[in-house]
Amino acid sequence: MDPKPARIDLGRLIDRPDDDFSHDEVQHLRQDFTRFMMRYKFGMEEIVTKLSILRDEFEHLHETNPIENVSSRLKNPDSILEKMGRKECESTFESIADKITDIAGVRVTCSFVSDVYHVFDMLTSQSDVVIVEVRDYITTPKPNGYRSLHALVEVPVYLSDGEVPVLVEVQLRTIAMDFWASLEHKIHYKYREDVPQALLDGLKDAADTATELDATMERLHTEVKSAGALSSGLKDELVRGTVALPDDAFVERLKRMGT
Ligand code: GTP
Ligand code: MG
Repeated sequence: MDPKPARIDLGRLIDRPDDDFSHDEVQHLRQDFTRFMMRYKFGMEEIVTKLSILRDEFEHLHETNPIENVSSRLKNPDSILEKMGRKECESTFESIADKITDIAGVRVTCSFVSDVYHVFDMLTSQSDVVIVEVRDYITTPKPNGYRSLHALVEVPVYLSDGEVPVLVEVQLRTIAMDFWASLEHKIHYKYREDVPQALLDGLKDAADTATELDATMERLHTEVKSAGALSSGLKDELVRGTVALPDDAFVERLKRMGT
């Protein structure tokens, strides 16, 4: 299989009546589409596995876990067709792969904003994960209040006949951002283009409240961390006696450093 899928006229599926197709043609189209989608499924699974490994490692070896939840979805054929219309996409696999970048989607929720960036760093610093594009809607929220960190990444998938790079959209956000985004999505789904202004204003207020909540939670989290145990490295040194036992003033300074 070529890294680039063959140029297949998907438009025939839409523009021609069903009985215009030979049985073989239908079989081929079906197979090509399955093959096309499978790559995205495998790419998505690679990213989910990477996140599961990180999550398990934290679960077993660290006191806190920056990953609260990981979910994934493959875009369904109807949504692909709908987006093809919106993005003026040609009816070929090449054009779909080029224009529709969220066929494979992975969403990561974290408790704290700092965790969002930490998970992003751990994932994207892996040598086989290539960052294609980052959209930081946390630093720069959308006008409606939407916040999340979006990373478009490419990950290699090894098939029977070789390696193919696959594009996966990873959305990282806090629980508060996720709560807001899911309600906003439901409201837009219900009202389509006609969301009453009062609801839009309410959503913007809720987004501001979520931002404040994230900031407060982050501050409390930092305080709790700094009031807690010393770093394991320092603990080891203390046990081995390679550092002088700290006096109270030294401990106070360490606490302020958040070790
Ligand atoms: P689409 O919005 O998917 O056409 O892609 P885009 O090129 O505009 O990218 P963008 O970064 O704006 O959004 C990608 C995805 O992020 C969307 O498919 C949603 O899952 C999510 N998203 C972006 N904006 C919003 C928003 O305002 N509300 C909610 N609930 N989700 C959003
Ligand atoms: Mg958009």
